Amino acid sequence: MEGFSYRDGVLQAEDVPLPRIADAVGTPVYVYSLGRLTAQARAFRAGLAELDDPHLAFAVKANPNLAVLRALGREGYGADVVSGGELARALAAGIAPADIVFSGVGKTRDELVQGLDAGIGQFNLESEEEGFELSALASERGKTAPCALRVNPDVDARTHDKISTGRRDTKFGVPIDRAAATFATLARAPGLRMRGLAVHIGSQLAELGPLEDAYTRLGELMAALRASGETISHADLGGGLGVAYRPGESFPSAEDYGAMVARVARGWNVRLMFEPGRFIAAEAGVLLTRIIRVKQDAESPPFVVVDAAMNDLARPALYGAWHELAAVAPTGERGRAHIVGPVCETGDTFAMNRDCDVLAAGDLAVFLTAGAYGATMASSYNSRALVPEVLVNGGRFTVVAERIEPAAMLAAERVPEWL
Ligand code: LLP
Repeated sequence: MEGFSYRDGVLQAEDVPLPRIADAVGTPVYVYSLGRLTAQARAFRAGLAELDDPHLAFAVKANPNLAVLRALGREGYGADVVSGGELARALAAGIAPADIVFSGVGKTRDELVQGLDAGIGQFNLESEEEGFELSALASERGKTAPCALRVNPDVDARTHDKISTGRRDTKFGVPIDRAAATFATLARAPGLRMRGLAVHIGSQLAELGPLEDAYTRLGELMAALRASGETISHADLGGGLGVAYRPGESFPSAEDYGAMVARVARGWNVRLMFEPGRFIAAEAGVLLTRIIRVKQDAESPPFVVVDAAMNDLARPALYGAWHELAAVAPTGERGRAHIVGPVCETGDTFAMNRDCDVLAAGDLAVFLTAGAYGATMASSYNSRALVPEVLVNGGRFTVVAERIEPAAMLAAERVPEWL
């Protein structure tokens, strides 16, 4: 994995040996490589080289760390946000309001106002109801909100059910058979400038076929809208490109994706917009953990109990997701083990019967491909600390999110005086 490599038998993040970070910051801790993050951002852009001036907005939910957003902003990325909190982060990172897209099926009134006040570039509306609410809020303020209508194309993304968003029975977007009517209605609402269509069918997509189907349907809808006199200048094609988590898995490259988009969108005559998250951040991060102890069992592989848990990296517990585990200083010996965290439920399992480096109490190890949907989904379940984050750049590293200790959370709680 570029960004993370072994030198003299010890895993480094760029030029920093991971034991140095563990000693300085403690474990568990997320470690990001700035070089790898930047390389991914450039690879995605390079894949779209055939397109004329695409707009790239990083899906903040994948990794909302302020330093990460700042780095991507410097690479010319805008931000795709889904909450007032994410909007505030994107602005704090210095991303221009005009490059911010506000997605999400449940933007509250306050969040719509925050977007209007900030003067963001585009609201991706997910329903006629939301459009009317934004219309009223914008009109009251004498503003015009640039908008796209998110369409639900009724396409099966063939990914994990919980991250599939393009089928008719999901909550996302306006059903494609009603989208033309909704667009026409909203185009006549005051305070809105309906300028485009948006689609996002799911995440961790392993094939381009479903995306191509969705984009083709979007193109047909665009043609129909134009034929009836509407103006469309933007098309937001969402995110979704998957990455390999297991050795040997193969995924479409940014070039494959770009070539498909160029073919399908030929003649659309719009500014194409993209919202990649995982592709940019996943491979730029690892979760560094220390083995607490190894519980031997005569009848089955040992339980390797690590100090990271489902609250730090939720993906295995939530989706049965695979994250490769690698020793920081491998002995060369391999074996079979169950990899578990300390949280008190069986769901706190990273892997069963995993063939991996043999690990002993006190050893360091990393879960790979953890830079997207890792720290951002962390919680403090079991009254554990909120996991910190470190950014590495060459031989330097900085704590870019501090560990939030249980004591700080306890200090934010109150016992009522009447108790
Ligand atoms: N745009 C919208 C409107 C989205 O909902 C998402 C992701 C993206 C863009 C970015 O998709 P990406 O390029 O990252 O696939 N927590 C899950 C992933 C949830 C994705 C939600 N939406 C996981 O850990 O796999």
